[in-house]
Amino acid sequence: MYSLKEQEAIIESAICSLRFVKEPAGLYEPLEYMMSIGGKRLRPRLCLATYNLYSDEIGDNILSPALALEIFHNFTLLHDDIMDRADTRRGQPTVCKKWNDNVAILSGDVMCILAYKYLAACPADKLPQVQALFTRMGAEVCEGQQYDMEFETQPIVTGEEYINMIGLKTAALLACSAKMGAIIAGAPEEQAAALYDFAWQIGLAFQISDDYLDTFGDPHVFGKKIGGDIMAGKKTWLLVEAIRRAAGEERKRLNAIMAMPDNQAEQKIAAMQQLYIDLGVKQDAVKAIEEYHEKAMECLSGKGFTAEQLELLKEFSASLVHRED
Ligand code: IPE
Ligand code: IPE
Ligand code: MG
Ligand code: MG
Ligand code: MG
Repeated sequence: MYSLKEQEAIIESAICSLRFVKEPAGLYEPLEYMMSIGGKRLRPRLCLATYNLYSDEIGDNILSPALALEIFHNFTLLHDDIMDRADTRRGQPTVCKKWNDNVAILSGDVMCILAYKYLAACPADKLPQVQALFTRMGAEVCEGQQYDMEFETQPIVTGEEYINMIGLKTAALLACSAKMGAIIAGAPEEQAAALYDFAWQIGLAFQISDDYLDTFGDPHVFGKKIGGDIMAGKKTWLLVEAIRRAAGEERKRLNAIMAMPDNQAEQKIAAMQQLYIDLGVKQDAVKAIEEYHEKAMECLSGKGFTAEQLELLKEFSASLVHRED
């Protein structure tokens, strides 16, 4: 088994050696830009990690589908940044900001299509299962993104609705990545299913932590503008929980903050941060992240994984959950 550091280097070098069509430049330059400005590469790394639990033979059979996951992820970000009106990602201007929305739509579309091309290079006997998994995931991400948008204007969103939404928009892709590596390596079905459930729970922790960092992160490390979710009225873990908890005076305070106009962004973000602290929502978000992390580890128990396999998965999930970027 390779170490996580070695796996990371393998993925990075595979991404660096990717070559895309050059013409028309207006279509492919934004794609190259997006793939080259960094990112944590979590999905291909997770896919390679679960594959490597079973096989050390790392070639195009696993790297090509792993790259498909990263290309697909970047496609979703191109469209997500239009939908969320985001200017900054990975410390750089977003494609919709650097170019425009139409460019981000079409370059995103071609990335989605290219993802299928890379996926198809997986071993032929695994392709039907892999493709079905990937296609279901793709639809789930769209469903999650639709709920995310609808929730902006829905006054009350329950904790259950929130978890369902982030499961679809974020956890589904991580779960697909984990299971895909296992399938391609020929893992026992029960373990492939356990890895899917494990990564789904990790995905929930990951999105709650993304919500947390969007409000309380360090912009230089996080790479996105702090307070973007507050300004967009996103029903994040923090806001859903604040709405549930705030009563009386605190409810009035919350409503007043939410009604503050866009030209008072700085004050609005600061006021919301303070309210989250006063309601105990900030500290409880950290607890919720930890709870989903524990649930993830539970998905792996009693499934016949070796101590060495469990150790690697534990190390991977800890790095994902205790993120700052
Ligand atoms: C951003 O994903 C979208 C979410 C699901 C929160 P990442 O935080 O993995 O983004 P990059 O690829 O590392 O930039
Ligand atoms: C992530 O949602 C889900 C997808 C991109 C599919 P966010 O909107 O929170 O992601 P960031 O914060 O922009 O990376
Ligand atoms: Mg979004
Ligand atoms: Mg976004
Ligand atoms: Mg976010």
